Amino acid sequence: MIVGTQWGDEAKGKITDFLAEKADRVVRYNGGANAGHTVVVNGKKYKFHLVPSGVLRGKPVYIGNGVVLDPEVLTEELETLKAEGFKPDLHISDRTHVVFKFHKILDGLQEKFKGNLRAGTTKRGIGPTYSDKAARFGIRVADLLEEKVLKWKMDVLVDLAQKLISQVYEGDVLLDKQQIIDDALHFGQTIADCVCDVSAEINDALDRGETVLFEGAQGTLLDIDHGVYPYGSSSSTVAGGACTGVGVGPTKIDKVIGVTKAYTSRVGTGPVPTELTDEIGDKIRNVGDEYGTTTGRPRRCGWLDLVPVKYSVRLNGVSQLVVTKLDVLSGINPLKICIRYRVGEKTVDTIPANLGLFELCEPVYEELEGWPENVDWRKVVSKGYDALPEQAKIYLERIEELAGVPISLVSVGPERRETIVIND
Ligand code: IMP
Repeated sequence: MIVGTQWGDEAKGKITDFLAEKADRVVRYNGGANAGHTVVVNGKKYKFHLVPSGVLRGKPVYIGNGVVLDPEVLTEELETLKAEGFKPDLHISDRTHVVFKFHKILDGLQEKFKGNLRAGTTKRGIGPTYSDKAARFGIRVADLLEEKVLKWKMDVLVDLAQKLISQVYEGDVLLDKQQIIDDALHFGQTIADCVCDVSAEINDALDRGETVLFEGAQGTLLDIDHGVYPYGSSSSTVAGGACTGVGVGPTKIDKVIGVTKAYTSRVGTGPVPTELTDEIGDKIRNVGDEYGTTTGRPRRCGWLDLVPVKYSVRLNGVSQLVVTKLDVLSGINPLKICIRYRVGEKTVDTIPANLGLFELCEPVYEELEGWPENVDWRKVVSKGYDALPEQAKIYLERIEELAGVPISLVSVGPERRETIVIND
């Protein structure tokens, strides 16, 4: 199971693709088209929002019930993949909820209404779709295959959406119920052959002794329960959410891999204690290409914060860490790692639920020596961990010590080969 230990964008897509080589199947368990998974293969960049990253390995890929599915994005991604010569073996849960255009409209209107409480969403309709799911207004993939049920449910849902748009948020969009139903039925027909009981298929595969990779989107600090509420996303991004998001029991999971970027980034609003608004922050953003895959927004960058990472290790039961984008920090000296927070005389060593307190948290840093700018990463990768600059090894060992779990992989570039295996 792959989880993000920070605010998302930890390069989970690359790691999923790397690990998918040895997996039999890959299943996505949460989020929707708000995610942006970038995978680079032989110099070619692929960006996915919905299709699990394992698709480039030619493995069967699954969209679990915990995901919210945007028909337009999925259709576009499948067309792109087919045009590139891939034959996606995609399976979609019949329990997955569907995102409609009105969800995206409502996303924008709700953000405006929220003012300072807005999370800076991706406007992909994520919050409104999960809200409808929880309030039991939602439309699931299975409904797209049953015209009578779809019409009956849409009749209520579109009326509600229209009332919210016009009367609550004072928007001027008029929804065309019949068109929405026709489009939904058409999409249902196009995916009908992929629709299945994903929970049953994945459990069967596990019972046969196959290896299944669970691909997470976003990160622990964006989790609906454990994230920095209300500045997170609306899905369950943690390992427990992966169990409900696919329909497997926790006893079936033998590894939880926490992906940690060598520094911090955040897209959207809310406190980020280690954010750097100086030239070091700019350097990290530019070298790390820290611009949103989904929205293109510049990400807020800063020093590595171990408080969220330790919090994630606890919440997810992380058994091993993967550190990504270590190369981005080359030439920055000294480096800083936040080991805890301070509020006045008080020490805080976890993510507080109290937003006012979190906003006051000041990072307590440990300083480490950086490594030179001009590392020959190709050579390092071919020779392995021991060939890393000494300062980089100390940086990684300090992360292991503070997080309390071993590092199994280190990524030093976007390509598959730019990965150092420590132990798997
Ligand atoms: P939403 O998921 O679009 O509703 O956005 C809620 C918050 O989560 C916003 O602050 C987004 O910027 C953030 N967010 C959502 N998806 C991602 C992601 O894949 N990476 C990083 N941030 C994300």
